[in-house]
Amino acid sequence: MTQRVHNFSAGPSALPLAVLEAARRDLSDFNGTGMSIMEMSHRSQTYDEVHNQAIADLKALMGMDDSWDVLFMGGGARTQFALLPMNLLPEDGLGTYITTGKWSEGALSEANKIGHAEELWTSKETGHDRVPAPGEVAPKASSTYLHYTSNNTIYGTQFHHTPDSGDALLLCDMSSDILSRQVEVDKFSVIYAGAQKNMGPAGVTVVFLRRDLLEHSPADLPETMSYQKMGSKNSLLNTPPVFPIYMVGLVARHLVEQGGLDTIAAANVQKAELLYRAIDNSGGFYRGHAQPDSRSRMNVTFRLPDEELESAFLSESGELGMNGLKGHRSVGGLRASIYNAVPLDAVTALVDFMDDFKRRRG
Ligand SMILES: Cc1ncc(COP(=O)(O)O)c(C=O)c1O
Repeated sequence: MTQRVHNFSAGPSALPLAVLEAARRDLSDFNGTGMSIMEMSHRSQTYDEVHNQAIADLKALMGMDDSWDVLFMGGGARTQFALLPMNLLPEDGLGTYITTGKWSEGALSEANKIGHAEELWTSKETGHDRVPAPGEVAPKASSTYLHYTSNNTIYGTQFHHTPDSGDALLLCDMSSDILSRQVEVDKFSVIYAGAQKNMGPAGVTVVFLRRDLLEHSPADLPETMSYQKMGSKNSLLNTPPVFPIYMVGLVARHLVEQGGLDTIAAANVQKAELLYRAIDNSGGFYRGHAQPDSRSRMNVTFRLPDEELESAFLSESGELGMNGLKGHRSVGGLRASIYNAVPLDAVTALVDFMDDFKRRRG
């Protein structure tokens, strides 16, 4: 096998090696069927078992009981920005949004095309360097739902508490920190995430929603856009993205076998602490973008004293097998995405390189 890089890509991103190897083993002959999972009917019993096991493992990991449904949908997390209000926002309703970055701004903008939505709180004035503190955002009494993005992939901020939505439904885009820690599922009505960071390859979006919400979908919605229609068919209304779902199932099983989300969260804390310590102990050479209380354990964003040093950092780290460290074009600088599947030794290698680079160039 060729050597694998230390993959710090923001998404699509690293997958567990054990999962990739299992997929390779299964690729041309799934469980003795003589064909790939991609080549068989999505109505077959073999596929059905894969599909339902993935749902069962995801629910077990999240700690969700039978009041929750899991939908596998297409179109990425971005499509959910529109589907949420299409399904859950009545004509006289109001969607409220906490906007802490590009993705939540996008969600608000799409909602306004469908119905009435407004911003309740934003971190825009300070360059999206923080999320609100607990209690800082008062829920709006007249709102149908409160939407937020738990981890801001681009800016490297993350909620470490669950915002209070009052009587409104709480909807959350967890695309970049899903399955990275346990969440207080009882407080949520919908949690959704594109698979391509912590769950699997691009191509499927997982929507966890409380089953009683299925009734809210207007009857005249196009079928594949209706949570009710998708839910009533167990996401098998049409041909689902079978291979991404199979991969999500492998990742979920892998996480179950590793001990579940508390074990994963502890490893994520350890990796993030290593990196933030390297930033904080650098005497100002590395400057973190996020305010300390809002720091993300998934995407660590930082700058160097100037762009020339940033570009030297990128090319030298690249030569050492570190990949995907360039910050998002709208923020610049560096970003180390340290999702579940990024091993501790990749983070250690990066921290060693950061210390060495500072010694030589600082
Ligand atoms: C938090 C968050 N939400 C939404 C998206 C958009 O996801 P997709 O490309 O699946 O539409 C991303 C992509 O990186 C993201 O990080």
